[in-house]
Amino acid sequence: MKIAVFSSKSYDRHSLERYNASFGHELTFFEPRLSLETVALARGFPGVCIFVNDACNATMIDDLAQHGTSFIATRSAGYNQIDLAAAARHGVTVARVPAYSPNAVSEFTLALILTLGRKTHKAYNRSREFNFEIAGLEGFELRDKTVGVFGTGKIGRMVIKNLSGFGCRILAYDQYPNEEAKKYATYVDGPTFAREADIITLHCPLTPDTHHILNEQTLPYLKDGVFIVNTSRGALLETDKVIKFLKTGKIGLLAIDVYEEEADYFYQDLSDKIPTDDELARLLTFPNVLVTSHMAFLTDHALRNIAETTLGNFAEFERTGQCANAISE
Ligand code: NAI
Repeated sequence: MKIAVFSSKSYDRHSLERYNASFGHELTFFEPRLSLETVALARGFPGVCIFVNDACNATMIDDLAQHGTSFIATRSAGYNQIDLAAAARHGVTVARVPAYSPNAVSEFTLALILTLGRKTHKAYNRSREFNFEIAGLEGFELRDKTVGVFGTGKIGRMVIKNLSGFGCRILAYDQYPNEEAKKYATYVDGPTFAREADIITLHCPLTPDTHHILNEQTLPYLKDGVFIVNTSRGALLETDKVIKFLKTGKIGLLAIDVYEEEADYFYQDLSDKIPTDDELARLLTFPNVLVTSHMAFLTDHALRNIAETTLGNFAEFERTGQCANAISE
């Protein structure tokens, strides 16, 4: 199929080209995100391939459908960036990669917890300046903590399994409890989860129900000094309220791989620009906050799975007019 690939960075291009040898699609790579300014680039492409920060709202889908696009595949598991109702109205099929490597995100979540928990990011910077003082680098051990895993789908379950080796107490919360998770974690109700977790890690999708789930009303119910980890979607947190509670010490540590307004910043080198997002700039000033740029997925294993599944999605749709990984509202 003739496919326009948006938000294509060197690593996307490399893996898609490598695995396309067995699919034979005609791939055209565009580095910019899909947006009002770039949607014209996709005209005449039956297939459009996007990623997490591409704009794929009704306006974009109207334009794509009018100019011959019948299939949109996101190279991600999450698909909150896509207006599925608009796609259905136009008869455009949308597909995703349901599970390319839950373990990649899980291991990164553990890396964030261990980094902030043992201050290895600070130790690294100190050593580079020949400062080998260790005062101020005191950390904690996970075996002394209660970790709350919010959302026990593919990634949450892997986090629970990976955490189990550390000897911590693991609490879980999900509307649909899972038998595998129960081997290592105890499902509790929302208030118990909020009251007892020292560390809360979010692994639910962004939906109208979970939008700003940690907000001015819910944050006060958490433990004083709680450690929040978000590798799911930025808008699960109400950022200005998180900043407010970081200032009071209610939130003791924060590790985020995702940010509410990340689309304008992440995946770009803006180091020579004046920061314009005051909330992101404020978050980066806290010594107890770690920000990474939506990279929990970024392993060789995951990139291979993303490329193979995405290219397979296009091939299946071209062959049959359907796709097993299609998503609808
Ligand atoms: P999944 O669909 O397997 O699991 C999601 C779980 O969340 C389900 O068990 C569901 O019942 C639960 N859930 C949904 N709404 C809930 C609510 N209101 N309260 C409690 N639980 C709720 O999804 P998976 O694969 O585990 O991915 C989770 C999220 O991780 C994705 O939606 C995506 O946003 C994010 N993600 C982030 C990546 C990164 O690079 N930072 C990479 C891949 C995914």
